[in-house]
Amino acid sequence: MALLPILRYPDPRLHKVAAPVAEVDDTIRQLIDDMAETMYEAPGIGLAATQVDVHKRVVVIDVSEERNELLALVNPRIVARSGEQVCEEGCLSVPGVYDKVSRAEHVTVEALGRDGEPLRLEADDLLAVCIQHEIDHLDGKVFVEYLSLLKQNRIKTKLAKKARITA
Ligand code: NI
Repeated sequence: MALLPILRYPDPRLHKVAAPVAEVDDTIRQLIDDMAETMYEAPGIGLAATQVDVHKRVVVIDVSEERNELLALVNPRIVARSGEQVCEEGCLSVPGVYDKVSRAEHVTVEALGRDGEPLRLEADDLLAVCIQHEIDHLDGKVFVEYLSLLKQNRIKTKLAKKARITA
């Protein structure tokens, strides 16, 4: 396994739309394992392949307290959504920035698992938020794009400053 570098907003590669995975083969399973290791090490509760500059529809998620319930979703698709919840979100690609985003409260997701088998999942609360956040990444969307343009510009300035300091 290997740790993968995570793209930082406002990197334009975060806005690429990821392509569907044709087959869950060893390359995809290796990607899932590397993404999981990267997510746990960060640490974060979700990571989309887009964030590690691989533009395939793969996400890993673990919202459990013990960090032992890895969920890998290939070609995830929300087939039903209902309700509304506002949650303070953060993102490994936007370090140090947290803000409220409104999302569906419940979602039903269809995807392929790490074994290539189709799965269907009902999610609510934090898991529902996380799934919507990660699928957004696959569509080239970062959560800060739900915020006002003023806030987005402030975040860009803040992260640009930070990049200069750490570079
Ligand atoms: Ni994110």
